[in-house]
Amino acid sequence: MAEKAILEQLQSNEEISNSGDFATSTGFDHEEIKNITRSLHGFQLVDAQEIKKEIWELTNEGKLYAEIGSPEFQLFSAVPPEGGISRQELQQKFDPLVYKIGCQAAVKNKWLEMGRQQVLRKIQTVEDSVKDLLLQIKDGQVISSEDINSLKRRKLIELKTWNGYSIRKGPNFSLERKKLVSVFTREHLLSGEWKNLEFKKYNFDANALPPSGGHLHPLLKVRERIRNIFIAMGFKEMQTNNYVESSFWNFDALFQPQQHPARDSHDTFFLKAPSTTLSLPESYLDKVKQVHESGGYGSKGYQYEWKREEAEKNVFRTHTTAVTARVLYSLAQQRPFTPQRYFSIDRVFRNEAVDRTHLAEFHQIEGVICDRGLTLADLMQVLQDFFKKMGMSNLKFKATCNPYTEPSMEIYSYHEGLKKWVEIGNSGMFRPEMLRPMGFPEDVTAIAWGLSLERPTMILYGIDNIRDLFGPKVDLKLIKRNPICKLGM
Ligand code: PHE
Repeated sequence: MAEKAILEQLQSNEEISNSGDFATSTGFDHEEIKNITRSLHGFQLVDAQEIKKEIWELTNEGKLYAEIGSPEFQLFSAVPPEGGISRQELQQKFDPLVYKIGCQAAVKNKWLEMGRQQVLRKIQTVEDSVKDLLLQIKDGQVISSEDINSLKRRKLIELKTWNGYSIRKGPNFSLERKKLVSVFTREHLLSGEWKNLEFKKYNFDANALPPSGGHLHPLLKVRERIRNIFIAMGFKEMQTNNYVESSFWNFDALFQPQQHPARDSHDTFFLKAPSTTLSLPESYLDKVKQVHESGGYGSKGYQYEWKREEAEKNVFRTHTTAVTARVLYSLAQQRPFTPQRYFSIDRVFRNEAVDRTHLAEFHQIEGVICDRGLTLADLMQVLQDFFKKMGMSNLKFKATCNPYTEPSMEIYSYHEGLKKWVEIGNSGMFRPEMLRPMGFPEDVTAIAWGLSLERPTMILYGIDNIRDLFGPKVDLKLIKRNPICKLGM
């Protein structure tokens, strides 16, 4: 081992004056000796001083001639001692460059006579001094400055900086490196061993492991799948990038009365600052007020005094249907009316007690179709289509109640694994009390449904506690290693 060789050499000698010579005499690679020297120096086992020298080294061309002879010598050797050789024949034996250089030098050395036709030897024996000089340089011998210059001119040698070390014993010199301890353990402490141990210093310059970022959370994978289903069915994505919404769009526009329990602070997060919205669409607001107070379009309304202050209160949106209301309102302003299909998948917030199936925030998936003369049968058909693409083909509907839809249906699917019917969504036809104040013509209806993103994700990934899926308790390994998801198409 090179390290042992260095340390043993220093044990019996005062110094290693040149690491290069030491490498040559011991047969180790000089680069290896230098690396070990630096490391030993770092631990102060040795004290190393750098030595720098400028030395001549052979270029690639120089190396070649050192092996097979100079071009002029090669050429000379190819000319027969008696009678010579034709120029053409000689030329064919060589690379054009070697031939050219060789001719010039051989003529200059008066080795060959280059006749018009024939090439003849002028003397019978020559010495390849170029090759000899190159070999001397390779050997590290000193040659005259004239010879150096001529080899340099022919680009057969070049000046290189050589470095090595002179090495002496360091303050921590010993024949063996002490093993440094890198982890301080409870056992070290209990046994008292720590007193005799030497600890490795922190290396603040060391590179850390590259971060392995960029993994998609299961919710995002399922979201992408569902988004693709909607897009395949011709739905456009609604812009849902506002978590804060006015009560007006979250509740009032959806014909949800101002005394409705969902509007209580026990169920909804109200904002402290800014606590109210800056602007509401005034003429539409008047119509919403009117439909709440006294109805219209065949409805009696709720018969109470509607207050603007309630509608202005900012909340964290409790459902993405708030976005649907905005989008439908702007669709209602367009002339002529054109049918549309919209969807959204984004986050909503509810002030709920957190348990294994509920968090205060989750994601809703929502689909809406707005067209003339849509019926409950259309809704049932589109739900069958949509859920079939999600891998659920066995559906049941159960009548329910939403302030903004009539009729309304809960959607159930038979779960093969659980062997029971599980609720998977909510749906309905938007009420005239919602659509008509927006300005839609009388025969325009809208069907819609909503479900959570968390529910199908938990079923697909076999997660039974929502806190294992979302929030601070999530195991990062789950995020890194979760498989791709496939919904039954
Ligand atoms: N907004 C409803 C909810 O929060 C879902 C829904 C959307 C119901 C559209 C009917 C129509 O559960």
